Amino acid sequence: MSFHHRLYCRSKAWGQKLQDTILPWLLSDVELGSMTLEVGPGPGVSAEIIRRYANGLVVLERQLRLLPGLRSRLDGTTLIVAGDAVAMPFGSAEFTSVLSIMVLHHVWRPGDRERMLQESFRVLKPGGILAGVDATPAALRRRLVHLGDRVSPVDGPKLLTELGEAGFERAAIHNRGSKFKFSATRPETGCAMTAPATTASPPGYGRQSRSAVRDRS
Ligand SMILES: C[S@@+](CC[C@H](N)C(=O)[O-])C[C@H]1O[C@@H](n2cnc3c(N)ncnc32)[C@H](O)[C@@H]1O
Repeated sequence: MSFHHRLYCRSKAWGQKLQDTILPWLLSDVELGSMTLEVGPGPGVSAEIIRRYANGLVVLERQLRLLPGLRSRLDGTTLIVAGDAVAMPFGSAEFTSVLSIMVLHHVWRPGDRERMLQESFRVLKPGGILAGVDATPAALRRRLVHLGDRVSPVDGPKLLTELGEAGFERAAIHNRGSKFKFSATRPETGCAMTAPATTASPPGYGRQSRSAVRDRS
């Protein structure tokens, strides 16, 4: 991410927007269940708010330099895992919900967004929900904060198709201004389409042991 984008992601203004409008809008009709995974927490501003809604929270971030900040911001309440959402270091069916807040457009390598959706499907329990918010392609083109970033905008219809191809059902998209929210459910029956090369299940990240920090680089 560009310098300006990194600054914005940790700003008070962004935190306020997440808290007052974006996350209430996203989470108003999402059942998070007992264990939520947030992919791409960045500096942790979104996770700090999500944990107020979640029963249990794990975050997965690929930028190692963000881990110390995540630890101090989320200390003792969240399991922080280093890793890539396109090959998640979790066993299958471990989470009741997966959240992606302004991450999809950063997954720019060809094929990676599809892999991230497949991985989200795999780590969700049957009946679990994938939900997120992203910027519309038109908004991304206007945003100076992305100058110098590699981004891959995705539009709603394309994402709906990709969610279906990953095995999800009840996929839905809702637009609001420069953002859209999406959600999709892993069917109660059926199996994941892909299996990772290696999976390891972090033991016990329920309520009792959420202070653990797991770096998997
Ligand atoms: C725009 S920031 C959003 C941060 C936070 N969710 C928020 O809304 O404030 C995108 C974050 O996603 C992370 N990210 C992008 N691709 C990822 C991947 N494949 N696996 C894990 N994290 C990823 C980036 O490193 C960055 O921290």
